[in-house]
Amino acid sequence: MKILGISFGRKNERCDILVKEALFAAKEAGAEVEFVNTMKMEITHCHACDFCSRQRDKGSVEIGCAFKDDYQALAEKYYDCDGVIIGAPVYAVGIVGQFKNFLDRLCPAHDRANMIEENKKREAEGKELLDARYFKDRYSAYISVGGAQTHNWVAFGLPMLHLFDFSFCQKCVGHVDAYDQGRTGSPILDKELLQKCADLGKAVAQSIGNPYDEVDTWVGDDGDCPVCHNSLIALHGTEDVECPVCGIWGKLKMADGKVSVEWPKEQIARARNTTIGIYEHHDEIQNMIKVCVPKLIENKDYIAQQMERYKNF
Ligand SMILES: Cc1cc2nc3c(=O)[nH]c(=O)nc-3n(C[C@H](O)[C@H](O)[C@H](O)COP(=O)(O)O)c2cc1C
Repeated sequence: MKILGISFGRKNERCDILVKEALFAAKEAGAEVEFVNTMKMEITHCHACDFCSRQRDKGSVEIGCAFKDDYQALAEKYYDCDGVIIGAPVYAVGIVGQFKNFLDRLCPAHDRANMIEENKKREAEGKELLDARYFKDRYSAYISVGGAQTHNWVAFGLPMLHLFDFSFCQKCVGHVDAYDQGRTGSPILDKELLQKCADLGKAVAQSIGNPYDEVDTWVGDDGDCPVCHNSLIALHGTEDVECPVCGIWGKLKMADGKVSVEWPKEQIARARNTTIGIYEHHDEIQNMIKVCVPKLIENKDYIAQQMERYKNF
């Protein structure tokens, strides 16, 4: 059982310390651990060139990226792991761009529903299957690190980190919102915070090897969403509210001056990071193609003619 700790912060600063603290505990719980700091890595953004999907559709065992930078080495470490602990700083209220660059290049290319469908085709044709490491059921934990004293300056930190779960259908077992670091000075001085991170490491280590439906571990604040445990609720003008991270719907309740959300079981079962949730998106895309492609063919000449205005501007 291998746990990969990734820090998107500065070398030997807060994210590093907190991720390493989680890894120390994971190691004590019996895991093999590896730590990577990405600060000096070159991980450019996704250019939407479709190289990864074309490579998959052409029957390659690997789903790689056209850009040859440090992405591939980090992706390989991820494929090898059974659990991942990510610590990343909040920049401008959300998670640092390097994390999103890595996520954008790694995750959508490995959408589980697409990969399952691709393997079904290959099996029928007797072709070599995709790399088995892409299908591991992994457990995750997240640490969002912010300098600001108030939570509103780290509002998108943890919600953004949880976006790393859905394409691979990963299950998160805990998170820590480590804000107020400006006043803390060094996390080393905050024993409670160090313990929270250690608890994450232990939870990931103890979850690995168990089927998802047998693990209901959660380490951290409960929050409101029963899946990602964030409290970022989207209002849509009725009592029906949504967790924008997990894409699930609940009903807003008001009792004794307190607001809460009731989340039906069927909704929890279709969260973005589940096979049901990821298939919903896969089917949505398949249906889009059916609508879009005939429209583009039918209007080919008109679009080409109109495009001149935009291209020449
Ligand atoms: C460009 C930039 C923007 C930042 N924006 C925020 C912010 O919006 N909210 C916050 O709490 N901290 C913010 N910070 C502070 C960092 O989150 C904080 O210094 C954190 O400890 C960095 O992680 P590290 O120590 O592991 O490098 C910002 C830092 C930088 C460099």
